[in-house]
Amino acid sequence: MQQPSKSRSQAFTLFRPHALEEIPQIYTWFEEMRTQQPVFYDERMHLWQVFRYEDVSTVITDYNRFSSQAFGATGSFLKDTLVATDPPDHRKLRNLVNQAFTPRAVARLSDSITRITQELLDKVRPQGKMDIVSDFAFPLPAKVIAELLGVPPEDWDIFQRWARVDSSDPALARQNGGRSMQEEMSDYFARLLEERRRTPREDLISALSTAEVDGERLSEYDLVKFCTLLLAAGQETTKNLIANAVVCFTDFPDRMERLIREPALMPTAVEEVLRYLPPVWFLFRQTRTDLELAGYHIPANQTLLAWTASANRDPAQFPDPDRFDIEREPNRHLAFGHGIHFCVGAPLARLEARIALPMMLEQLKNLQRVEGFPIMVNTGIVFVIRSLPVTFQPR
Ligand code: HEM
Repeated sequence: MQQPSKSRSQAFTLFRPHALEEIPQIYTWFEEMRTQQPVFYDERMHLWQVFRYEDVSTVITDYNRFSSQAFGATGSFLKDTLVATDPPDHRKLRNLVNQAFTPRAVARLSDSITRITQELLDKVRPQGKMDIVSDFAFPLPAKVIAELLGVPPEDWDIFQRWARVDSSDPALARQNGGRSMQEEMSDYFARLLEERRRTPREDLISALSTAEVDGERLSEYDLVKFCTLLLAAGQETTKNLIANAVVCFTDFPDRMERLIREPALMPTAVEEVLRYLPPVWFLFRQTRTDLELAGYHIPANQTLLAWTASANRDPAQFPDPDRFDIEREPNRHLAFGHGIHFCVGAPLARLEARIALPMMLEQLKNLQRVEGFPIMVNTGIVFVIRSLPVTFQPR
């Protein structure tokens, strides 16, 4: 049995990239850890870090040994949500959610996504420049989630304020007029649910409020929790998928040119962005019992940090993993997780990217990053690009 040892890499666990140019260093560290200490006890953070594809995949999939309750620590807004729930409760919640989050409900959003994308492009096109994050990547998913849920247009301003909060940011709990943003959101969704129960419409909140499994409906507490989870889980992630795609395309202009010529390659290119520069970098789990992982003994009730971003560059799974290959197939990345917690919103995020990115490339010629502008990032569970100014000419 192997024992975790201290390594010169340990210093790196405190390293949090603040700028895009530091990202290659973290990938070098992942490579070092995959080969030297694939399962690593981090004494400072009191948790186990896991780096290889096979082990990360096991940790996030094997719910009998690894619990998701690690996400629901006291005070976390994720407490009691789908993502922090284990079977059998998870199955019940997920079945109910699946009834409302159907492929039809997602496909219905195609026209809205196209319309919203066009409105955003029309606004910036005459200027020849924009901030990809605030002018495009932020408002698109926020408007789509608002429409999916059925938030009325007159409430867009309030909704936008909540969506603006980075879900990994403690600001989520910050006080706002004496109430936390979390409480404000909960009250709002409770009111909207009540309204839709009385007068249902063609939206997710109406569908959720009437969905049943074995004659049982979601409680109001579960419904409100789910609406806030959707906003938190779906907004920052999709925003960063779009921003990360622009980073990849502008870093590799030959591949961007190819995508302009052959937009049919966009679906595989989006999967490659998800693998190469993913919006979610790691997931948490907790050991249910003493167990062994890749030859390392881990006691019960320990927290594990499974680096999906590292798994996505593991050469044991992906040939030439550091190459950004827009035709890569197969591409079994872990950007949306794996197993029973696989992302509910993956079809929606994919649809948004597959519609919005080709429209952007088609309508904005010579898309380039503004030279010398430092791209600042926040790294938590979600990798966040704060601002990404670009220039272009309208086609
Ligand atoms: C590119 C965008 C997205 C990424 C990278 C992403 C990533 C993820 C990942 C990695 C998980 C698995 C968590 C785990 O195993 O512990 C997850 C779960 C989840 N995601 Fe997403 N997500 C995205 C978009 C969305 C959207 C648009 C929505 C909804 C509107 C959404 C809602 C959820 C929900 C509700 C779960 C919990 C599922 C469960 O625990 O059964 N996500 N997401």
